[in-house]
Amino acid sequence: MKHSAKTAKKHAVSAKPAATTDEQGFTSVQTLRKRAREGLDKGPVTFTYTIDRKQLVAKLNDALATEWVCVLRYMRHYFSAEGMLAEPVKAEFLEHAKEEQSHADLIAERIVQLGGEPDLNPATLTARSHAEYKEGKNLRDMVKENLIAERIAIDSYRELINWIGDRDTTTKRMLEGILAMEEEHADDFRDLLNGWIGD
Ligand SMILES: [Fe+2]
Ligand SMILES: [Fe+2]
Repeated sequence: MKHSAKTAKKHAVSAKPAATTDEQGFTSVQTLRKRAREGLDKGPVTFTYTIDRKQLVAKLNDALATEWVCVLRYMRHYFSAEGMLAEPVKAEFLEHAKEEQSHADLIAERIVQLGGEPDLNPATLTARSHAEYKEGKNLRDMVKENLIAERIAIDSYRELINWIGDRDTTTKRMLEGILAMEEEHADDFRDLLNGWIGD
């Protein structure tokens, strides 16, 4: 039987690629094992990781800058707060500074897990941060500036979480935890402002 080039081509087109998933969409064990051996330098970032890592790392670096600017602003407020009401408010500033620091650490660690580099260049921190470094004119003004900064952080984290969606559930879960704390911080300052006596 004559085996023409045309026949060979027809066979090649009609040949189905080996199925990598079953009818429920689960990947075969062979494919899982094969994929795991490819791109080992990416560590935890595997075949099913679909989000653009560069974009996400850039967004996380913005959040990292924000957290650091918040640490610095809280510490500045902690050391310079004075007046009759200062002690309990100072304690609040210090507690928040420590918590923002822990957020920064979580974010930096995640950036490294994703194969990125945490950008802690102090020369560009305030420009990259969402929240501002406001010194505040007096104790009440400091509290107000911190409430504003927390509200900025809340909005930017919520946007980032929504953008990530289900494409990176680990990062999303981490950010959801941070967001919940920023909401608590904002609530603390709202309570302080609501009960404020004097200037
Ligand atoms: Fe934070
Ligand atoms: Fe906060």
